[in-house]
Amino acid sequence: MALFDKCYEFKKMADHLRSLNQFFYLRQVDPAASPIVMRNGKKMIMLGSNNYLDLTSHPKVIEATKKAIDKYGTGSCGSRILTGTTEVHLKMEKKLAEFKHSEDSITFSAGFMALMATIAAIADTGDVILSDELNHASIIEGCRLSRAKTIVYKHNDMVDLEAKLASLKPETNKLIITDGVFSMKGTVVDLPGIKKLVDKYDAKIMVDDAHGTGVLGERGHGTLEHFNMEGQIDLVSGTFSKSLAAVGGFTCAKYAIIDFLRLTSRPFIFTASPPPSIAATVLASLEVIEAEPERVKKLKTNGDFLKKGLKEMGYVLEPTITPIIPILINNDEKCFKMAGYLEQEGVFINPIIPPAVPKDESIIRVSLTAGHTENDLSMALDKFKLVGKKLGVI
Ligand SMILES: Cc1ncc(COP(=O)(O)O)c(C=O)c1O
Repeated sequence: MALFDKCYEFKKMADHLRSLNQFFYLRQVDPAASPIVMRNGKKMIMLGSNNYLDLTSHPKVIEATKKAIDKYGTGSCGSRILTGTTEVHLKMEKKLAEFKHSEDSITFSAGFMALMATIAAIADTGDVILSDELNHASIIEGCRLSRAKTIVYKHNDMVDLEAKLASLKPETNKLIITDGVFSMKGTVVDLPGIKKLVDKYDAKIMVDDAHGTGVLGERGHGTLEHFNMEGQIDLVSGTFSKSLAAVGGFTCAKYAIIDFLRLTSRPFIFTASPPPSIAATVLASLEVIEAEPERVKKLKTNGDFLKKGLKEMGYVLEPTITPIIPILINNDEKCFKMAGYLEQEGVFINPIIPPAVPKDESIIRVSLTAGHTENDLSMALDKFKLVGKKLGVI
């Protein structure tokens, strides 16, 4: 096969889906992160965004971002380790560490990079990573990049995890890595269960709190707050691209670990630092979450309202306490059809098919924000009823 043949083969498959109106990727929506968006000149209710607290349009967040651009310009044009560290980067990292009850934090240009880089720097030859089978792709890539052996355990299954831990020599270094909230199913990790095993088998834990931050815990501090376990987890990573209204990612840990990452992590050292305005956005977002806990509450109320409405009309949902609502469809074609009909009716959702979920477990992934009104959600429910009946799903 010639070098580019795979691209032409792939294009054929994508074009086939396009011809069937079953290509739901790269859809243009403006503005992307808003409860209501425009697509093809039509208003749509956005039920696919991770802008959980609707902070991308918060006046204080916008003002802080604009001020940083006025002061620093648009980009830092240098690596953090050389010329790309400003006062606002350092303030953001200090605030993040406080927010996550940690000694220190390091930030990266993407959440994906934060996960991948942290794992690759910490886990080494001879070490063993135990990774949940539904962990995010950035964790999988981090495991590949590290020189450690990776053992995958069944999703959130403490019996399987214990069996795998027990099979290892006691002196082996073991790092358990898990999402706090799983991105497709909205499951919350059994963190107390993992902590018990960590203590019993002398392992360490890393939590990816991309979808927990701003969402779980009464104050939105994340999965650790939800379980009253703040300060008890070795490595806590996450992203700025969801509740923190920007782009980038972080890892929080003890000072020595963070300093090691700062001075050895290649994806930290050999890339330009995020623009100072991004750091200002994150800093302001963290301040708003602390000043306005009612947003976290509103997000939960909105999620409960939509879940109740969908269940009452006969949809089957994976159980979740988060604003990620997986509607079980279990049939790829029906999933695509549903996405198409909902789009025609002005509701944006994401159809999720394998490999993002296991075979025959395709879902409609609904995610909502604190910025949706009850009226938006009631309108969306009406459309779900219409489309569900048309397809025989309810
Ligand atoms: C669980 C999880 N971890 C990490 C990431 C990566 O974050 P980012 O979008 O900032 O690269 C995502 C984003 O999709 C995610 O869902």
